[in-house]
Amino acid sequence: MKKAALGLAAALTLALAGGAGAQGYPTKPITMIVPFAAGGPTDIIARMVSENMSKTLGQQIVIENVAGAGGTTGITRALTAAPDGYTIAMGHLGTFSAAPATYPNLKYDPIDGLQAIGLAGGTPILIVARKNLDATDLKGFVAAVKASPDKFNEAHAGVGSVSWTTCTLLKGQLGVPKLNSVAYRGTGPALNDLVSGQIDFMCDQIVSVAEQVKAGTIKAYAIASAERSPALPDVPTTKEAGLPEYQIEAWNGIVAPKGTPKEAVDKLVAALDKALNDENTKKRLMDLGTVIPTAAERTPEGFAALIKRDAEKLSPALKAAPK
Ligand code: MLT
Repeated sequence: MKKAALGLAAALTLALAGGAGAQGYPTKPITMIVPFAAGGPTDIIARMVSENMSKTLGQQIVIENVAGAGGTTGITRALTAAPDGYTIAMGHLGTFSAAPATYPNLKYDPIDGLQAIGLAGGTPILIVARKNLDATDLKGFVAAVKASPDKFNEAHAGVGSVSWTTCTLLKGQLGVPKLNSVAYRGTGPALNDLVSGQIDFMCDQIVSVAEQVKAGTIKAYAIASAERSPALPDVPTTKEAGLPEYQIEAWNGIVAPKGTPKEAVDKLVAALDKALNDENTKKRLMDLGTVIPTAAERTPEGFAALIKRDAEKLSPALKAAPK
């Protein structure tokens, strides 16, 4: 081959490698940022799903908990990382659909500024309380809160988190928007304080509270879904318990920085799909009440559409809510 032709071949090879951008991906461990404290719902789902994804990808997915500002600190870190497939994040209804309405200076755009990978799990919301709170059912709880809102403390994981968002909607519906609330770095630590009776109630995702409700260390007044959860069949729906207008579905899903190479995205999407089809992973998720996403929801397109739909749905109520 002549010198000029050799040069052209080398340039073409380089261009092709650059275009794919992730030849042989992954060749080293991947960091998955969890934007809340360890032990909460996001962390639990991230660890269960990533364990199986690591096997498929042949590289370890390492969980890094980066908590703060209702999860937006960790998601900002993930979405401003190099778009090379080696930094991804597990976020949720709060960080992607509620945060734009609650943080006017949010440093990421969940609609056009990220690469969706897929939905990892639906996480029904429960209204849970310390076990010795006087009210024995949802109607009693609602009546007591309405009568003396200043006597109650609600825990959440920061403005814009799922617990903050879902209890903000609840408090708005009950007409007690300013009821006292305490922010934590995640509902994992908040749950410890609920169990020890230092706070009164919270709205949390089923995955982190299911075991405690079963053990009787806290009580659940209702699940804010259309149907009861097979993981907690004795907990009534809000409709059954007398508050039918309080319905909200939370979820968790994986994202990567915008511009992540297609080869990496495709491999992450396939690994997530495989994890959610794996009997052992599925059982562990479902035992805690996670709703396994449909095939369409596991795709980048399906997940991006869900983020957008819920952002539009939540925006008016959250923009008006006290922060
Ligand atoms: C967590 O993992 O701590 C939660 O997802 C927090 C929340 O958004 O309520």
